[in-house]
Amino acid sequence: MNIARVRPFRTSVGRYAAGPRLRLPAHRASSAVLAGAYPFLATSPCDTGVPVGVDAFTGGLFCFDPWALYAAGDLTNPNVLLAGVIGQGKSALAKSLALRAIAAGRTVYVPGDPKGEWTPVARAVGGTVVRLGPGIATRLNPLDVMPGADASASRGRLLAAIAALTLHRGISAAEHGALDAALAGAERRGTTPTIGHVVAALGAPDRAAARADGVRVEDRLLDGRDVAHGLRRLVRGDLAGLFDGPSTHTLDPGAPMVVLDLSALGSGEDALALAMTCSSAWLEGALAASSAKRWVIYDEAWRLLRQVALVRRMQAQWKLSRAHGIANLMVLHRLSDLDAIGRQGSEARALAEGLLADCSTRVIYRQEADQLAGTTTALGLTQAERDLLPLLPRGTGVWKMPRRTHVVHHVLHPAELDFIDTDAAMRDDNHGGGRDAA
Ligand SMILES: Nc1ncnc2c1ncn2[C@@H]1O[C@H](COP(=O)(O)OP(=O)(O)O)[C@@H](O)[C@H]1O
Ligand SMILES: [Mg+2]
Repeated sequence: MNIARVRPFRTSVGRYAAGPRLRLPAHRASSAVLAGAYPFLATSPCDTGVPVGVDAFTGGLFCFDPWALYAAGDLTNPNVLLAGVIGQGKSALAKSLALRAIAAGRTVYVPGDPKGEWTPVARAVGGTVVRLGPGIATRLNPLDVMPGADASASRGRLLAAIAALTLHRGISAAEHGALDAALAGAERRGTTPTIGHVVAALGAPDRAAARADGVRVEDRLLDGRDVAHGLRRLVRGDLAGLFDGPSTHTLDPGAPMVVLDLSALGSGEDALALAMTCSSAWLEGALAASSAKRWVIYDEAWRLLRQVALVRRMQAQWKLSRAHGIANLMVLHRLSDLDAIGRQGSEARALAEGLLADCSTRVIYRQEADQLAGTTTALGLTQAERDLLPLLPRGTGVWKMPRRTHVVHHVLHPAELDFIDTDAAMRDDNHGGGRDAA
């Protein structure tokens, strides 16, 4: 590669004479050497996949397809972390990626949308929106899993996760035993069990089953008491009417997009985490039939990271996602959202670090000054990358992948603006257009 001497040049309107002629010696170096000297400028174009926007350094088109990059060995997994301060265009990028991926034959699943801002996007592509909340007739039975050899095991895992979430602690081996026995009892009824059936079975343990497990029936009743109280919250407590009956929806596995709108649940973190846990189980079952490549998008994921039980479950699902052709996209404000899960050295913290390690693409939008050091260490950014972070304009981010880094300005198509523009409610008094207030 040759960097030519800079010379004044002639254009159609006359001679270009903006400054004195530079008298630099010509410099000749191989692309490999220049790639070291100018890591941004010399990165080869990322041109496979759906168009995202413009590479800020080369002016070229930047495309992204986690499956293609994974297949080419550029990524160690297809998952993406997207972090940036509020209003920088994180959701807009996630929505564009979703819409453009659908055009390329992928499908998209949003397992929990706490602001209700994905509904117009799903409607635009003929997708399905399931809206959950108090007073809404929709019910999802999380125990409604695909019939099969591991149906009981996946119901058991789910019940344990729900119990841990409602009790705010891990559950003991004895509690696991009581829960498994109650589930087996509920399953013996013949129809798809519901959480109500499991709660009833916890309150009236089966004597023969207890004896077979070497436990007195009185002890089994005691073992299951806390768990029953926890689960009862979904049957008669503040979460009643959402997950405690047969599902009112069956899911079309071929739907281009499925959004679970949780905006009606309000700001309760427990309710949101429980809804996400139950809905992810329900969807796992409903979608297991389809093998299409799928984006699973956790917008506002920082809210979920406060619940260790949910993070544990998310990580287990992520481990399986590669086998199912799933790419997860996790949207945070800052990397320190991950620290909020737990103290250094704790199990929770290890889970958070695991989630980060499971995202081999990290897209960093503008960060506050106090986040720079932490972000730099967590992601192994270079000084040049770090210095960019506080300067990035809206819609522009550093895309860091194991073997390449790009600074990309996400270009929104005018047709996308109609259902991506979350500023509409701030600007217009009368914004209509079917959007839910965020
Ligand atoms: N690449 C972009 N070009 C132009 N406007 C954008 C771009 N990205 C986002 N916006 C605008 O910025 C606003 C806020 O974006 P949003 O995605 O909701 O931010 P965040 O999710 O980061 O809080 C949106 O209304 C959108 O119209
Ligand atoms: Mg957003």
